[in-house]
Amino acid sequence: MDIADLIVERESEGYFAYHRSALTSEEIHRAEIERIFNHSWLYVGHESEVPRRGDFVRRTVATRPLFFSRSQTTGDVKVFYNSCTHRGATICRRDRGNQKTFQCFYHAWTFDTDGALIGVPDEECYGPLFDKSKFGLVEVPRMESYRGLIFASYDPNIEDLTDYLAGARDYIDAMMDAAEVAADFAAGSNGNGNGNGDGAGGPALQVLRGTHQYGIKANWKLLVENSFDGYHLGPTHATYFQFLKDQKVDVSPSTGSMKLLGNGHAVIEYTGSWGRPIARWASQFGDASRPQLDALRERIVSELGETGYRMAELNRNLFIYPNLFVMDNNATALRVIEPTSVGYMDVAQHELAPRVEDPTVRKVRLESYVTFAGPGGLATPDDVEALESCQQGARSGVEWSNLSRGYFSEEPPMSGELQMRVFWRRWQQQLLAAEAVRA
Ligand code: FES
Ligand SMILES: [Fe+2]
Repeated sequence: MDIADLIVERESEGYFAYHRSALTSEEIHRAEIERIFNHSWLYVGHESEVPRRGDFVRRTVATRPLFFSRSQTTGDVKVFYNSCTHRGATICRRDRGNQKTFQCFYHAWTFDTDGALIGVPDEECYGPLFDKSKFGLVEVPRMESYRGLIFASYDPNIEDLTDYLAGARDYIDAMMDAAEVAADFAAGSNGNGNGNGDGAGGPALQVLRGTHQYGIKANWKLLVENSFDGYHLGPTHATYFQFLKDQKVDVSPSTGSMKLLGNGHAVIEYTGSWGRPIARWASQFGDASRPQLDALRERIVSELGETGYRMAELNRNLFIYPNLFVMDNNATALRVIEPTSVGYMDVAQHELAPRVEDPTVRKVRLESYVTFAGPGGLATPDDVEALESCQQGARSGVEWSNLSRGYFSEEPPMSGELQMRVFWRRWQQQLLAAEAVRA
């Protein structure tokens, strides 16, 4: 089937559907990697994961092995392809650590943290013209960071990251600003940051140690849809709502809205009866955290006004096209969706927290995150089941998936599907545009 035929939209009828081969075709998956992932800004990691010189973290980003490290000489972060310039072995073979140099385990070529080749066993065998400076580790063509979030692009000609982020920037800024107030507040209220952070410097929101990683036997786009799908909350997550109810939390249904942010990015913002570690107390958090959370909420609202109120009170799932979500609800997590193969995705979730936080609040944050969004929590396994069943259904012979909900709504509801339609349209445009360039 031609890419142009994969989406059917009939405006007068308010009908939008995509063909399910988009979830099952190997050929389409290859095209996505080449035409979408190779020409987007992709989230790699967070500056707070490499706080000291020589720190490094290994990642796979759109099927390519990478690692990033903080230079021993300049303190800057660089993102490298994880492949030796000799014969290709992966250089970085641990998920994280700290090193003065990187030595390839195969024939022991050695690189410094800026990627320069500094050691070659039996170098004389390469002859007098061998020039080590030509065989340094290769950096990704583009790397930029925004408020601590490190992105890379395999496309040297891509627009700057700040332009690419478009309207998503305002939301990242608002979350970071609220975290900044929270960190100052915690540092002030307990004097020294209480061992939860360094108390000063670095991005306001930091990634906590420990990443949740899990696989889903489904196409990556199904988790994109699911991660900003307000429609499924009640039916799919009945277990979680029952759990809240059992803890005397009032579980009135969420209400909210959706906003398109340009370049395929979008956000849903909604009320929730559950608590938010920044900063909305609810009974499931227990009485110990209440004074801190109430005081923090007051401080955020007084310093940031309306934005502060939204950050304290409302939940949001912010999508940064093509595969990153900031899930800011019961806790705040970065969800990165790796398109491993057509029928399988790897998911990484990194928990974010203000760089200094009161221990009682940190405790409810961690519990709240693990309880809801962790791979063994009360939400994620239900989502995994839903997505894997969609993937199975995609091979059934029923050919089209319907994304028409809210087509005629003037104010897009959070339970509508406009955000998904916009995602799919951009997806198709990118596949088609690259096809046109090749022709
Ligand atoms: S492949 Fe790395 S030294 Fe040979
Ligand atoms: Fe869900």
